[in-house]
Amino acid sequence: MQLYVDSANLTEIQHAASLGFISGVTTNPSLLAKEDPSIDIRSLILDIHKSVGGHTSVEVISTETDGMLREADEILKWFPEATIKIPFIPAGLTAVRKLADQNIPTNVTLLFTATQALIAANAGATYVSLFMGRLDDIGTDSLQALNDTCEIWDTQGLESLIIAASIRTPIHLLECAKAGAHIATVPYKVLMQSIKHPLTDAGLASFLKDATKLKM
Ligand code: G3P
Repeated sequence: MQLYVDSANLTEIQHAASLGFISGVTTNPSLLAKEDPSIDIRSLILDIHKSVGGHTSVEVISTETDGMLREADEILKWFPEATIKIPFIPAGLTAVRKLADQNIPTNVTLLFTATQALIAANAGATYVSLFMGRLDDIGTDSLQALNDTCEIWDTQGLESLIIAASIRTPIHLLECAKAGAHIATVPYKVLMQSIKHPLTDAGLASFLKDATKLKM
């Protein structure tokens, strides 16, 4: 399972990228809105893309197909490697199909059921983003939704890649990997939590303490 950082904060993204295990970045309007409003979005997105160099998903805000396609054209002028993130609404499915027919990568977002993911895949989605945390937030078993999705993918041999999104904890990360998601897009904080372990810290401290006794 590949790991993306789910953020629009350049400092977070640059640090995560420097650790060498991040393959991409996903953004969305809410993540972008958390950043300095004086920063030009195009410049921020380009700096984000340069920081990681791999997958960069940029979400459209239009809710009509033509508007989505116009935004996609603009984003692709910023950088041709962009993946266009599109919400799972009927107009979005039409846009996904049109972009797929032009071999433009899409990431269909705001998916909460395996059936939605299946439909998005049939529309030609390159990536399907299944939200975990928001399901858990309303008492729905997100892992069941992910397991159902992965089971359908295995049974049907679908080509779209499953992105586990809305990740809230390191346990989510573990569950997504075990379930078979292709990618997890993870908030910086959860990535850092997943790296840290008290026994690792204690073990290193002990090694370093003992190393002082060695004649090097
Ligand atoms: O990529 C989608 C993700 O950013 C949503 O996360 O925590 O707002 O549900 P969250």
